Amino acid sequence: MELIDGKKISGQIKEEIAREVEQIKKDGGKTPHLVAVLVGNDAASETYVSHKEKACNKVGMDSQVVRLEAGISEEELLKKVYELNNDEQVDGFIVQLPLPDHIDEQKVIEAIDPKKDVDGFHPINMGRMVIGLPAYLSATPAGIMELLKRYNIETEGKNCVVLGRSNIVGKPVANLMLQKAYPGNTTVTVCHSRTKNLESYTRQADILIVAMGKMEFVTADMVKDGAVIIDVGIHRIKSDKTKSGWKLKGDVKFDEVKEKASYITPVPGGVGPMTIVSLLRNTIAASQKRIYG
Ligand code: GUN
Repeated sequence: MELIDGKKISGQIKEEIAREVEQIKKDGGKTPHLVAVLVGNDAASETYVSHKEKACNKVGMDSQVVRLEAGISEEELLKKVYELNNDEQVDGFIVQLPLPDHIDEQKVIEAIDPKKDVDGFHPINMGRMVIGLPAYLSATPAGIMELLKRYNIETEGKNCVVLGRSNIVGKPVANLMLQKAYPGNTTVTVCHSRTKNLESYTRQADILIVAMGKMEFVTADMVKDGAVIIDVGIHRIKSDKTKSGWKLKGDVKFDEVKEKASYITPVPGGVGPMTIVSLLRNTIAASQKRIYG
């Protein structure tokens, strides 16, 4: 079994990005600039956004967090989105999700100029991705593809089973694994909460991508010998064995599944650290106008 070390790979990629940003600046280009819009003060969102800001600074990019109060009206938030769409200093921006209940998330996502949608959530970017056109790819699916590539994992002709059908992970990663490309060219099955006899699918999987949000759902008996296991789940549980008092678990029962896997991502340190580098890459692509010209 080989561990897929997302922490190590994301560190390498951040160094590559830092060199690229330095070169852009040396050539007299504009410093890539990412803005994150944070509505309210959800603790997890605060943490994600501060990680994104720190990562930008580390690689020499400009970054800014726009903080808006939880009670802001949908209209006011949309106004901010239009303002960022038209701000030439801003190459790309994201609106951190979830948004408060009184705001229609989809409406906000669709208000973002697809050229600046570095989260890749706009239907234009999703649609372009599905038909194989250049597009901003959303962070987690892009991070998974990058890990498969960096570990030279063979994908062509393999059976890929995706557990979970969210718009952010399951649907896009299933589509990427289907593309006529590397990584890709797999035969994809997507399983979800209404799938009957789910184990009969997972046992056929050469590559199993688990993004269903159920802690330690995948057990050794559900996995084929030699399978590649990608775990997207993150669950925080109390622990008296760690300094912080918390421990992270995935959607896969790691200790037993690792015995059967050829490659496996740990939690933490697998897919998680890759997501921010995907966002940084999209921001460079936006500043260099690589997707839409
Ligand atoms: N909330 C959880 N993950 C994400 C993400 O990748 N982007 C945004 N905008 N919000 C999120």
